[in-house]
Amino acid sequence: MKATTAKIIRRLDGLMPRTAIILGSGLGGLVDSLDVEVRIPFSGLEGFPKSAVSGHSGELVAGKLAGQPVILISGRVHYYESGDASAMRTPIECLRAIGVENLVLTNSAGSVDDDMGPGSVMQITDHIDFSGRNPLIGEPTDDRFVGMTTAYDDNLAAAMDSAATKVGVKLYKGVYMWFSGPSFETPAEIRMSRILGANAVGMSTVPEVILARFYDLRVAAFSVVTNYAAGMTGNELSHDETKEVAPKGGENLTRILISWLESL
Ligand code: HPA
Repeated sequence: MKATTAKIIRRLDGLMPRTAIILGSGLGGLVDSLDVEVRIPFSGLEGFPKSAVSGHSGELVAGKLAGQPVILISGRVHYYESGDASAMRTPIECLRAIGVENLVLTNSAGSVDDDMGPGSVMQITDHIDFSGRNPLIGEPTDDRFVGMTTAYDDNLAAAMDSAATKVGVKLYKGVYMWFSGPSFETPAEIRMSRILGANAVGMSTVPEVILARFYDLRVAAFSVVTNYAAGMTGNELSHDETKEVAPKGGENLTRILISWLESL
């Protein structure tokens, strides 16, 4: 871990990002807005995971966005790839070690709410770890007992609200429910998730939020809705649809994030 951290710091060459953004499926478009200074493939970073999901390429990209130094993590690894909920532990630990304070997580998700259609951007206000997995299982120290009452930072959330208002993008708010995937949910599971209080469902993010809180990073998280969840329209769901729709909603999320960075 120390050698990997040192390598990243060396490659950043004086750039000191306080913000990192983890890009979800089909949301890699943010990289196009970045003045890229450094690209480091995960394969060159010991302890970083290797992802094989189409629509993801594993690399750490650093540069300036709206004048602010930021790190983009493109190609997060999902629990369903290896059954390892802690797959993103080393990247998140390294972000903290190089001085990052804010972690912005993004994902593609299915909407459980009739009035939050494809293309909507939802700020995650809380989550339900329905997978039952936890990335801190096996962590031997008492630090594993991470409080999750205020996992999603209120101040960051308020700043994101202002940023969204400024660029005129409607920002939905809601609870994200983590299913392990990789198969999509069933209509019965979606009815259950609605009863339990979810607004969106997806296959990522929750383990990273837990890890980020373990490493004391401030967290903001967003879902880009790519589809109504299973059983809501009669259509079958597909990863192709996720990849196709995500960049469209992703444009609005990009505008919010750039507006937020400009305000820093
Ligand atoms: N379910 C789970 N994950 C998803 C979905 C969904 O409907 N859409 C995009 N990612």
